[in-house]
Amino acid sequence: MAPIPLPLQWQLTAAAATLLLALLASVLLSGRCSSKKAGGVKLPPGPARVPVLGNLLQVGPLPHRSLRELARRHGPVMLLRLGTVPTVVVSSAEAAREVMKAHDADCCSRPVSPGPKRLSYDLKNVAFAPYDDYWREMRKLFIVELLSMRRVKAAWYARQEQVENLDTFLGGIDTSSVTMLWTMSELIRAPRVLTKVQDEIRAVVGDKERVQPEDMPKLTYLKMVVKETLRLHPPATLLLPRETMRDVKIGGYDVPAKTRIFVNAWAIGRDAASWDDPEDFNPDRFETKEVEFNGAHFELVPFGAGRRICPGLAMGAANVEFTLANLLHCFDWALPDGVAVKDVSMEEAGGLTFHRKTPLVLVPSAYAYRRGHN
Ligand code: HEM
Repeated sequence: MAPIPLPLQWQLTAAAATLLLALLASVLLSGRCSSKKAGGVKLPPGPARVPVLGNLLQVGPLPHRSLRELARRHGPVMLLRLGTVPTVVVSSAEAAREVMKAHDADCCSRPVSPGPKRLSYDLKNVAFAPYDDYWREMRKLFIVELLSMRRVKAAWYARQEQVENLDTFLGGIDTSSVTMLWTMSELIRAPRVLTKVQDEIRAVVGDKERVQPEDMPKLTYLKMVVKETLRLHPPATLLLPRETMRDVKIGGYDVPAKTRIFVNAWAIGRDAASWDDPEDFNPDRFETKEVEFNGAHFELVPFGAGRRICPGLAMGAANVEFTLANLLHCFDWALPDGVAVKDVSMEEAGGLTFHRKTPLVLVPSAYAYRRGHN
């Protein structure tokens, strides 16, 4: 038999390797991953995975959305492998309660990964530090020194300064400015709600040029508007990753120590099991539904819950509410000429936080100024 030329040999080898890989993948991908393991351990169910990459290819650029789709098929406690990292994703209020309340003490560490390690000077930041004495001390300091109610109140002056400067509004991509932009986006698409919240603010503030700190407790509908925005658009859609410190049972499944946990706060906020018309922006729902985002109600967890709950909750909410109150009091807002409500894109983009993909362009007209000079 004539010898096979070298290029053809390469092609044949490559074809054989591809065939083998395809065969392997089809074997691995056939059917769901079994939730049973030897030794009576019952792991959570989850989608089948490929070698090395695990389920990475099933998680797109908007992970909270693709993970919700996967959870619809595999359940609210679902096991994935992101590369080689075993990861449990929880997508219901009940499962979130188990992770952040019933088993909070077992699930409240943070995984060590290279990005946060570099960002936080070797995990010296409260948000990325594992659950240990260092974290406890840092968090205590953080709360006492920066975030106590005394400090939140003392910051009113700075906050008032801030609303003098509208750039603040456009510049940041942090959680608070992201929330303000989502709120304005939702309001401009819901004229009834916009009018209702402006009527409330203007009735409370009266003839004053600006909203004052003492006006804030009376702005109950504005607080509902912000709450509804955080339900639909929690900036940290999957919270921050947690890691189990020991073996734990969640949703009746065994979750081993050192498993990463994502709480899909975005999916939980839109879960039809907890919310009527979950995709609608309707702050009025909170007139009859007493749900707070303070970590006590697991159907609304934009700030997380348990030991790792956001320590900036009071400050973050106060910043957002106060800045919005002033923006809505001082200006009337409209879309630019020729832009219809249906043209306002609500597409998301992001990484650690998810913000608007495209800039929000609105036209303000100075309400208070005009009235003051009539
Ligand atoms: C609308 C505003 C904000 C939102 C939606 C938000 C959301 C969150 C979320 C989801 C977490 C993770 C919770 C978890 O792992 O269960 C977190 C953690 C954290 N946030 Fe916020 N946050 C906001 C504002 C702030 C502000 C203003 C500060 C500081 C002044 C702050 C400081 C922190 C810190 C230090 C952590 C880490 C806590 C820990 O790991 O122990 N946040 N935040």
